[in-house]
Amino acid sequence: MQTMHRIFFNDSACLSFLSDESVHLVVTSPPYPMIEMWDDAFSARSPVIRKALSDLDGATAFELMHEELDRVWSELHRVLCRGGIACINIGDATRTIRDRFRLYPNHARILHACQNIGFEVLPCIIWRKTTNAPTKFMGSGMLPAGAYVTLEHEYILILRKGGKRSFPTEEDKIRRRESAIFWEERNRWFSDIWDVKGVSQNIENASSRTRSAAFPFELAYRLVQMHSVQGDTVLDPFLGTGVTAVAAIASGRNSVGVEIDDNMEPLIRQNISSVKKIGNARIIQRIQEHVDFISRYACDKREVKYKNSVYGFPVVTSQERDIRFPIVHNIAYSSESEEYMTSYSPLENQGWEPSSK
Ligand SMILES: C[S@@+](CC[C@H](N)C(=O)[O-])C[C@H]1O[C@@H](n2cnc3c(N)ncnc32)[C@H](O)[C@@H]1O
Repeated sequence: MQTMHRIFFNDSACLSFLSDESVHLVVTSPPYPMIEMWDDAFSARSPVIRKALSDLDGATAFELMHEELDRVWSELHRVLCRGGIACINIGDATRTIRDRFRLYPNHARILHACQNIGFEVLPCIIWRKTTNAPTKFMGSGMLPAGAYVTLEHEYILILRKGGKRSFPTEEDKIRRRESAIFWEERNRWFSDIWDVKGVSQNIENASSRTRSAAFPFELAYRLVQMHSVQGDTVLDPFLGTGVTAVAAIASGRNSVGVEIDDNMEPLIRQNISSVKKIGNARIIQRIQEHVDFISRYACDKREVKYKNSVYGFPVVTSQERDIRFPIVHNIAYSSESEEYMTSYSPLENQGWEPSSK
C-alpha cells in the first residue's frame, strides 16, 4: 500500500489544480475573522476590510472577512465527492470596538454560508478547551450586570455534500470494513463534546508570524478516522503547520494541503518527518487501549462475541472484525513529482495482553 501527499503554496480561494469531486474529506481550520491575530492577513486580501477595521466598523469587517472565506467553502463544495464531508474547526471571536464588547459568531456565519452553497449541515462537535487562568474572566467581575461568559470552546462544524456516501464495489466495501474504528472509540468520538488538550502555539524562529494557530494531532486524526476510509484523499485548504497531512499519512489516506504562507514550509516538512514515530505510536496506543477495554468489559461479565480476524483480539461488534492498521514504513519526498510518497507495512499480530495496572 502507498499514499501520496501534495502541498501547494497557493490561495485556496481558487483550487483549480483539483478536479471536481476528487476529494473525500476536508479537515481544516481557517483564519478566524475578528481575532486580531488575523487582521493583517484579511486586510492584505482586501482594502475594504482594512478600511472597515480602521473605521472601527466591526460588523462590516466581520461580514467582509467571511465573504473571503465563502469563496473557499464554494471551492470545497466543488472538489468534494458526493457524500464527502467537510470538518471545519472554528472559534467565535469576542472583541471590544468603540468601547462596546460583543461576540462575532463565526461558527453561525459559516454554517449559514455553507448551507446556502448546498452543503447539508450535520450535528457539530464542541471542542472544550479549558483554561484555569484566573485572568480569563471578562467584564465587571463579581458585580452584576456587566460580566461576560468566557469562551472556552471552539466548534468542529460537520458538513456533507449530497446524501450518504456509497461504497459500490467489493473493493470499496473491503476498504471500509478495514477502516472501521473500535466500538468504544465510536462511543467517545461520536459524542458532541470533546475534551482534547490544545497544543503549544509558539513558532520558534518564525519569519512571518509567531503563533501557529495549530490544532492538535488527535483532533485531525479522529476526524480522518471517523469520516474517511483508507486510500481516500483528505484536503486541508488552510494547512498551517501540516497537522492534517500528518493525520492523513498516519491513517493510510492520501492528502492535499494548501497554504498561502510559504514561510510555513520548514515546519510542515519537519512535522511530516515525525509521522512515522507519532502515527505508529498512536496505533499501538489504540490497540492497547482496546485490549484493556475488552478486559474490563469481560470482567463486567458481558459476553464478547467476536474476534478481529487480523489480530485475533476480541471485539464487541461484527463491524470491527476486519479492522486492519496500516503502519508507516517509509516517507520519501520526490522533487520530480513534488509529493511525499508513503509506503506502509502490515502490523503483525503481536498477541496483545491487557496492561497490568
Ligand atoms: C488557523 S491556521 C491553520 C492551522 C492548521 N490547522 C494547523 O494545525 O497548523 C490558518 C492557516 O491558513 C493560512 N491561510 C490563510 N488564508 C489562506 C488562503 N486564502 N489560502 C491558503 N491558506 C491560507 C494561514 O497562513 C494559516 O497558516
